[in-house]
Amino acid sequence: MTWRASVLTLFPAMFPGPLGTSLAGRALERAVWSLEARDIRAHATDRHRTVDDTPFGGGAGMVMRPDVLDAAIAACDDGRPVVYLTPRGRPLTQERVREFAAGPGVVLLCGRYEGIDERVIEARGLEEISIGDFVLSGGEPAALVLLDACVRLLPGVMGAAESADEESFAAGLLEYPHYTRPAEWHGKAVPDVLLSGHHGAVAAWRRAEAERITRERRPDLWARYLSDKPRNNRSGGVVASTPAAP
Ligand code: ADE
Repeated sequence: MTWRASVLTLFPAMFPGPLGTSLAGRALERAVWSLEARDIRAHATDRHRTVDDTPFGGGAGMVMRPDVLDAAIAACDDGRPVVYLTPRGRPLTQERVREFAAGPGVVLLCGRYEGIDERVIEARGLEEISIGDFVLSGGEPAALVLLDACVRLLPGVMGAAESADEESFAAGLLEYPHYTRPAEWHGKAVPDVLLSGHHGAVAAWRRAEAERITRERRPDLWARYLSDKPRNNRSGGVVASTPAAP
């Protein structure tokens, strides 16, 4: 069955955008998933087609009206999770992406940065999600990011190579370094172990490198990895004698 994405936006021309090409674009053509970009402004009721107004209490910027947003959501609310993309949302995780991908699809609400009326968030039980601690000019690029992450997990979209990537991230570690030909480039050699033909040694080296990079760059992921010892079958931080399968 087709995984369905509806995006509520003031800028429907931003979709499918990059999702019309590559892996996601081919899956869209094959109807593995569908995408409809719905113009929020179509639900405005006055002759100026107003979608926002000044904030009660004063302050800069405009706030999107709850009545207009509610009507836009009502028009496509069919039990799929309804997500509002906002920098104040909970951080998007691979785990939540996996859950979205396993369901019937998503409804994504893209607001302008200043915000939307709080009452529609409460009334519709919107799930607020952020894609990172930085501010975009609107939710649309965040919606594209969320959809890209979901679509690549749909059955038949990814090849075997990309599937393996997902599993290594799921183990809670960042990726180990990759090398290809030429074996020497600008005076830099590829690590000897990768040319050794010894699969066990290669796996141990990769695991140790993944652990080093995670420890150096992401203390938060590293702490979680350490507290999750049994599930990860980890090496102990140095080159392992019995590494987990990559
Ligand atoms: N809208 C503006 N910035 C955002 C962010 N970081 N994540 C999700 N939606 C946003």
